[in-house]
Amino acid sequence: MAVDVSEISSLDVEPGELPRTMAAWVIRQEREGEPKDAFQIEEIEVPEPGAFEVIVRVMAAGVNFNNVWAALGKPVSVFGYGDHPEYGHHIGGSDASGIVWKVGEGVTKWKPGDEVVVHCNQASYEDVEVHGLDPLAAPSQQIWGYETTWGSFAQFTKVQAQQLLPKPRNLTWVDSSCYGLTYFTAYRMLVDRCRIQAGHNVLIWGAAGGLGVFATQLCRAAGANAVGVVSSEEKGELVRKLGAVDYIDRSEFGEMMRTDANHPAADRGADKARFKASRAFGKRVGELLGDAPDIVFEHVGQATFPTSVLVVKPFGKVVICGATSGYNLDFDVRYLWMRQKQIIGSHFANAYECMRANQLIAEGKIRPVLWRAMGFEGVPAAHQLMHENGHLGKIAIMVGAADEDEGRLEDGPGAIRAEVGA
Ligand SMILES: NC(=O)c1ccc[n+]([C@@H]2O[C@H](COP(=O)([O-])OP(=O)(O)OC[C@H]3O[C@@H](n4cnc5c(N)ncnc54)[C@H](OP(=O)(O)O)[C@@H]3O)[C@@H](O)[C@H]2O)c1
Repeated sequence: MAVDVSEISSLDVEPGELPRTMAAWVIRQEREGEPKDAFQIEEIEVPEPGAFEVIVRVMAAGVNFNNVWAALGKPVSVFGYGDHPEYGHHIGGSDASGIVWKVGEGVTKWKPGDEVVVHCNQASYEDVEVHGLDPLAAPSQQIWGYETTWGSFAQFTKVQAQQLLPKPRNLTWVDSSCYGLTYFTAYRMLVDRCRIQAGHNVLIWGAAGGLGVFATQLCRAAGANAVGVVSSEEKGELVRKLGAVDYIDRSEFGEMMRTDANHPAADRGADKARFKASRAFGKRVGELLGDAPDIVFEHVGQATFPTSVLVVKPFGKVVICGATSGYNLDFDVRYLWMRQKQIIGSHFANAYECMRANQLIAEGKIRPVLWRAMGFEGVPAAHQLMHENGHLGKIAIMVGAADEDEGRLEDGPGAIRAEVGA
């Protein structure tokens, strides 16, 4: 049956009752490839909630890089993971704002009608790590809407009850749908993994991107000094407005990027030229911050990692959660051991971190940075834009929300929009 996209925001069932089917953007293994083609709209049966699960009506969904990877089927296909073998489809989407529609057995904290945002970490309560170490250490840990199907690019989504957080009352549906994954990740990286302190100096790669806009604001909130790396003046101005001391346009230091051609094993001379450019970049960072960075905020990976390890201060920390440019990293290890630097891996956040970070949004101390809100039909185009690095900050998709201003219950600072041309 063809899905009528103009009807997505209307429902003929009340909270507590589920319709038989829903509209969803679906990736299937046979059409993995460019996001604009991999996502197709389908009519899918609405799942029932299991024990400690909740079905949420999606009002708006946030767009993240993970579903660019899911569409491409790279570096691995999602279809080997989570509940994909059971259902054979991938409904992506790891951020949402919405309304609790039906609760499963055992759920006592939430009821139909509650307004929520969703964090994307899932783990089984039967795993002991959940109860004493960290849910991110549990063997069952997975990212909802990436390693699982039933994500937020659909009228309804299936989540664990522990994923729900109260929706900040000062935000619209679109504002509240777009920050969770990247903001909570940046919060754990800086606050819990690096113990950021007032006076620290921080270098942030991709500072106008999804992670970067929150890392920059967190530095300001903590009293730390940030320099952001970007690829245009427009992005640089945004980063300054978010509280960075200054920005560096990476195109000025293009030679510092690690490529296969300037690898020491391929061309010793080209590697020396790259190293020289990295040193010049480090000098500029030091001039802007007054000293070398205590923390380098990494997610670019292969292209930037040798520079990150080189420029961070002795005893400093390179914290990394991703590898957009490639995940086989190399660096000159002498700069690590002799200067006693640390490399710290970080992955999303636990529910307690999400709750603390969400409170800062409710208090207006950290604000979502919404670049564009699109209709439900925008899911493939939004991911294609992200794949081509054509965006700033975050993109939100309206699902149950019929317009961008819906959902605000109280006055207060909403998302930052004007600065990013939304
Ligand atoms: N493990 C986790 O929990 C987690 C959570 C969130 C994201 N991630 C991963 O982290 C990465 C970034 O996510 P995001 O949401 O911030 O993506 P994003 O919105 O696309 O922002 C990334 C930024 O990185 C910069 N960049 C991209 N390619 C680059 C290159 N070759 N060299 C230097 N800079 C480059 C771009 O900024 P400029 O062009 O302005 O420099 C871009 O704005 C993705 O790979 C994502 O999958 C992981």
